[in-house]
Amino acid sequence: MSVMTREQNERLVRTGPGTPMGRFFRSYWIPAMLSERLPQRDGPPIRIRLLGEDLVAFRDTDGRVGLMDEFCPHRRASLFYGRNEQCGLRCVFHGWKFDAAGKLIDTPTEMNPDFGATVQVTAYPTREAGGIVWTYMGKEAAPPPFPDWLFTHLPETQRFAWHYNAPFNYLQAVEADIDISHPAFLHGTIGKAPIDRSRAAMAADPQPKAFTREEPFGLMTVWGWETDDPARSLVWVDPYVVPCHTIVPAGRTLMRYIWHAWVPRDDESHWLYYIHFDPELVGGPDERRALEETYGHDLIDPENDYRSRASLENLHFVDRELQRTESFSGIRGIAAQDIAVLESMGPIIDRTREHVGSKDYLVIRLRKYLLDLLDRQDAGDPLPGLNGEVARDIDSRMVIVPTSTSFEEVLGRREWTWGDVDKAA
Ligand code: FES
Ligand SMILES: [Fe+2]
Repeated sequence: MSVMTREQNERLVRTGPGTPMGRFFRSYWIPAMLSERLPQRDGPPIRIRLLGEDLVAFRDTDGRVGLMDEFCPHRRASLFYGRNEQCGLRCVFHGWKFDAAGKLIDTPTEMNPDFGATVQVTAYPTREAGGIVWTYMGKEAAPPPFPDWLFTHLPETQRFAWHYNAPFNYLQAVEADIDISHPAFLHGTIGKAPIDRSRAAMAADPQPKAFTREEPFGLMTVWGWETDDPARSLVWVDPYVVPCHTIVPAGRTLMRYIWHAWVPRDDESHWLYYIHFDPELVGGPDERRALEETYGHDLIDPENDYRSRASLENLHFVDRELQRTESFSGIRGIAAQDIAVLESMGPIIDRTREHVGSKDYLVIRLRKYLLDLLDRQDAGDPLPGLNGEVARDIDSRMVIVPTSTSFEEVLGRREWTWGDVDKAA
């Protein structure tokens, strides 16, 4: 049994300015929001909280996205009320105007034309790719290389994106994503056939095996389940990529991959991203609808800052009849099931009170990995994943292999791809 100390827990969950984990997140390009939140040039600005900082975002006349301190550096009025006009956001209190880079470009109340140059404004660079506005919130003058994710190269018909404003600490969600023994229970069905072979194997084997290996991008995780054929195992190659991503080989019947990000909003909430993508399959409205149904993404309420309509207040719409007859949890939607249990823990779980065991192996490994990284950061050592070229090639697969195959061998044989899942019926 591995027990976390209160200090270790604090070190992992706090991400505000000046905290070790906050500094770690600020070393990378991270998703700030889905591009769909700023649909028009010169449209209304939005407020967005990231890593404990209150920011305002707007799309200017040329289509660029500005991301800066929500509060005007003059008298601290909220720039959310600002006028987005002629390549800049103008504060409605006294008319100061900022461009998309956050530069103060007009101070109409000031006599001194150089006054603007003396005012420090907190603003962060942005870039858009794959339907996401990304930002770098670190202090280095030159941001790190931009991550080259595979899904950012795909057209919109091959990627479907959602994000949630989830009311609990980011790490609870990352840990759940690499929690190998929970799918058999939380996402399980009762009395009806699972939707595909992977779900069938997960449901039948509550004690999957796991393996990890440290990589230049983070931590590779490999999961293995026994299948109904004793000679064959189902294996997932499921990378965790710093600072807050996984690529899940989710299934064959819908888009094959899910790219996740869990970006702290503050210490008690985070932005949870689901990008479903497939480099071969082209989807349309039906595919989108099927993903909404399977994952519960239709519960997202854009009118309520992208919170899920299912919450602790309505007990996540748990349906006891459904729980009795069809679904282990009684909660509809894979994402909604995860959110329900993670929100039920409280905004920040007290990890000193857990009793983690052998099948929590990956969770324990991830915590240790992150604590080690923070120590390396303190020591001034280089951090992983800052080579942007790496991201596109990161391995993620589901394969069916002879039971005797080692996890290392699966990792070494990238030619073993999804086709095996189909063939080995
Ligand atoms: S507070 Fe914004 S211009 Fe005065
Ligand atoms: Fe889950």
